[in-house]
Amino acid sequence: MKNLHNALQLKQLYLLKQLGYKYTDNIPSEIEEEKIELPKDIELLKKLTLDCHLCELSKSRQKVVFGEGNIEADVMFIGEGPGAIEDSMGLPFMGHSGELLTKMIENVLHIPRESTYICNIVKCRPPKNREPSPSEAITCRPYLLKQIEIIKPKIIVTLGATAYHYLTNDENPISRVRGAVIKGDRYNIIPTFHPSYLLRNPSAKREVMQDLLKVKELM
Ligand code: URA
Repeated sequence: MKNLHNALQLKQLYLLKQLGYKYTDNIPSEIEEEKIELPKDIELLKKLTLDCHLCELSKSRQKVVFGEGNIEADVMFIGEGPGAIEDSMGLPFMGHSGELLTKMIENVLHIPRESTYICNIVKCRPPKNREPSPSEAITCRPYLLKQIEIIKPKIIVTLGATAYHYLTNDENPISRVRGAVIKGDRYNIIPTFHPSYLLRNPSAKREVMQDLLKVKELM
């Protein structure tokens, strides 16, 4: 919650600056904890996220891409951030990499995409599809953590290095951690390659298939 608290504090300071303040003694530290507690209801959380202006990405986005799927899913997929198509539709993984992700879910896990939950590290599109910055990822993190808390997946599949890194804070390269089952109290994490990497390197599909077979085993 501390990051969200800091972000809200920063937002208030920006507001004061816009109003012409150059200095304030009155740092808005009295943002009460209960006021920044995110809702435990997914629809209320979504509503709040759709109205988020806590980082720079909110200025250039068309739509917030909150995430979609079964809120009782056992398996959650976490990508990096929305691309152009997702930004215009407000839904995750809608383009070519989404098509590939859907095929992999259906053909390897043998479940419909809708029975999983799919979201991203950041909910708004980074301009020109650049990687989200650490501060953008950290600011958006409370929304993701609350989604995880509500959905309670058994397995989280992180797609690509950025998703793995920002979810776990582990700096190991994806090539080293890919396919590992990282056991946790509440969920296991299985890092794998991002579908857009697979579109550029089709030979890596075999490894991702192996990773998804591990997911299936654990389901
Ligand atoms: N890439 C991602 O990481 N997420 C999306 O939603 C789409 C493409």
